[in-house]
Amino acid sequence: MRRISNVLMAALLVLVGLAPAQALEGPVLVFGGTSGTGLATVQNLRADGIAVTVFVRPTSDTSVLESLDVSTVVGDALNAADVERAFGTADFEAVLSSLGGRRGEPRPDLDGNVNITNAAKASGVKRIIQISSIGVGSTREPPGEGAGFMDEVFYLKTLAEDHLMESGLDYTVIRPGGLRRGEATGTGVLIEEEKMGSIDRQELGRLVAGALADDSTIGKILFGIDPALPVPEEE
Ligand SMILES: NC(=O)c1ccc[n+]([C@@H]2O[C@H](COP(=O)([O-])OP(=O)(O)OC[C@H]3O[C@@H](n4cnc5c(N)ncnc54)[C@H](OP(=O)(O)O)[C@@H]3O)[C@@H](O)[C@H]2O)c1
Repeated sequence: MRRISNVLMAALLVLVGLAPAQALEGPVLVFGGTSGTGLATVQNLRADGIAVTVFVRPTSDTSVLESLDVSTVVGDALNAADVERAFGTADFEAVLSSLGGRRGEPRPDLDGNVNITNAAKASGVKRIIQISSIGVGSTREPPGEGAGFMDEVFYLKTLAEDHLMESGLDYTVIRPGGLRRGEATGTGVLIEEEKMGSIDRQELGRLVAGALADDSTIGKILFGIDPALPVPEEE
């Protein structure tokens, strides 16, 4: 009943031009929500009053999350059973993966994301956003001899994207440009055309929270850049 009246209210607000065409009610499950882009997205969702559960590791720094009134589930994204358990803790409307690797740890870019995609599908959570990276793409070949660290990471992310796009879920893949540590600028964009650029994690989090509520982003690969910022120099 609450869902129906919220939908009616959203429709009325759209008619009078006060709201975006879709509304996100939540709750949203966030992987990688303890720092960077994931945390910035959580902050934006909470500012909009949306309930959030963040998947954290036993070692994660949760000090910022504590002030945001979120639920947490403890586990490791590399452990499929932990990920499945997280999906069982609420009736989630959407899931975000902003997993990123820490130096000296196993990369979660492929196995962590595959666990999330599989668990979303098994638990009936259709809406999913995966943060990937510019430079990733289905034409990428397995890294050969002498390949650099980033070639390996891009290849893992390519496989994770492919697995998601073949899953039948309502996906959006977001490939940001170079990530910076500044504040939200209000000038970032999500675009379908691949363009080199950079973007602050806070700004990207604002855009990701918006994309979760925007059904027109479903089934798309979107590049996240801030045209007001300098383009990072090629190596
Ligand atoms: N750096 C760049 O310029 C750049 C450019 C384009 C795209 N990207 C991509 O954008 C995404 C977001 O990057 P970011 O720098 O904003 O994020 P980040 O600060 O590196 O955060 C990574 C998150 O992943 C979590 N995580 C890592 N391994 C995990 C595991 N096994 N189980 C559960 N959680 C795990 C971390 O949790 P803990 O707090 O427990 O460590 C943290 O919350 C990443 O996919 C990154 O590769 C980065």
